[in-house]
Amino acid sequence: MHVTRSSNSPELWWRDAVVYEVYVRSFADSDGDGEGDLAGIRSKLPYLRDLGVDALWLTPFYRSPLADGGYDVADYRDVDPRFGTLSDLDALVAATHAHGMRLLVDIVPNHTSDQHPWFQEALAGIHRDRYLFRKEPNDWRSNFGGSAWTQLPDGEWYLHLYAPEQPDLNWRNPQVREEFEDILRFWLDRGVDGFRIDVAAGLFKDPEYGNIGTLRPHEDGSPIYGRPEVHGVYRDWRRILDSYDGDRMAIGEVWTESPADFARFLRPDELHQAFTFALQLAPWSAPEFRSVVDKVLAAVRPTGSVPTWVLSSHDVVRHRTRYGSAARAHAALLFMLALPGSAYLYQGEELGLPEVLDLPEAALQDPIFARTGGLSRGRDGCRVPLPWSGSAPPYGFTAPGAEPWLPMPSDWGPLTAEAQTDDPVSTLSFYQRALRLRRALRDGLPESLEWLESPADALFFRRGPLLCALNCGSEPVRLPPHQRVLLGSTGQPGRELPGGAAVWLA
Ligand code: GLC
Repeated sequence: MHVTRSSNSPELWWRDAVVYEVYVRSFADSDGDGEGDLAGIRSKLPYLRDLGVDALWLTPFYRSPLADGGYDVADYRDVDPRFGTLSDLDALVAATHAHGMRLLVDIVPNHTSDQHPWFQEALAGIHRDRYLFRKEPNDWRSNFGGSAWTQLPDGEWYLHLYAPEQPDLNWRNPQVREEFEDILRFWLDRGVDGFRIDVAAGLFKDPEYGNIGTLRPHEDGSPIYGRPEVHGVYRDWRRILDSYDGDRMAIGEVWTESPADFARFLRPDELHQAFTFALQLAPWSAPEFRSVVDKVLAAVRPTGSVPTWVLSSHDVVRHRTRYGSAARAHAALLFMLALPGSAYLYQGEELGLPEVLDLPEAALQDPIFARTGGLSRGRDGCRVPLPWSGSAPPYGFTAPGAEPWLPMPSDWGPLTAEAQTDDPVSTLSFYQRALRLRRALRDGLPESLEWLESPADALFFRRGPLLCALNCGSEPVRLPPHQRVLLGSTGQPGRELPGGAAVWLA
């Protein structure tokens, strides 16, 4: 029997890992159909290894009609033909490991696609108890806009916290539980190192279907998120993960407002990690950043787990655009990478990609655009395919002359990976240096931090031998006493750190 280490063991790989999110559809296309695929990812593994990340997280590549970019799964045990085959996945797992990295896959347990055989049966009136059907809707709203309920021609309503093409599963049905345990084993047997769990706090809904009224969806007492029954599922999943060798792990996408609610997911027999989105939601401000970091550290500390940090993802406006400049984006990266815990990067941030704000409406694919009647343009602007080479679209993302699934800007020539490789002042080189240095330092760093006194617009903190300074203001600030500059976000600062910059000091 394999003996697992407690998740407090500091040597566990995920406790300080840098994980790179691959949005599969937009990463690299190997077959010229305009959509990224698993073979495309495999061809770029040397790039990812040279970047210096520890693990990859792949967004869903399962069979799907892509009503929500693959977060609508029609078959949890197969690869969508657009993205490749199961043998491509096996080859990718093996090659990722051969390049010294781990591979996490996304699991979507809250809802299936409406094309899933179970929902097709439900439509025909068979086994509706695998989903959430009601005679009357309530006031719950879909996260994509509009009501969370859709009525079938026979009069019954079904729940979908997202698009109508994503019916919510009934987790009180033991068949649903068994099915997902089997799905976990299916991918663990194929060698994946763990899972990112989609909508992890949402599986159980209030069986009374009480109206939400004026409560916010993620508030304590919400009838939708963070209900106590969900924790039993993750205890079972943890036992499954622990029964495999190789320190497999799971990270939950957990949106909760209260830190106590959040911490429950991280109990030692539940999830290894949970995403905290607080940093991603905070404006460019030293006091805001500090308060976010303090809150997250305080929530996580008693659990024995570690914090996770994210600046960008496939769901939010890219942080370079949110913060308004490449300089600030670089500074934020140094700040994040110096914090205790693990960091999740999103593809393209290492190239300094901005959000694409002017995609033509006809090209938009995110269901949010249609469901809000165009009030929100949705998340396509951070999902534009990566520019790899050349000076015009599709920049090596797909075959020359092929149409990428989202149009690529005509001015991205200087941002391609090719243009930035070997350019010492490029964003890519900066990411490589920062990740290399973090790796070199990490064994000597405590899993905690100590704030030092700083001017109001700046933050200084120490982790053992490493000192990080971030200046969110516009005036230069005097750096704390140090022996040496290890890495700066804007060249080598002297005794002063300019506005919108960060530095690591020894
Ligand atoms: C998560 C995903 C998001 C998706 C939603 C529904 O929030 O990150 O992209 O739309 O779940 O599955």
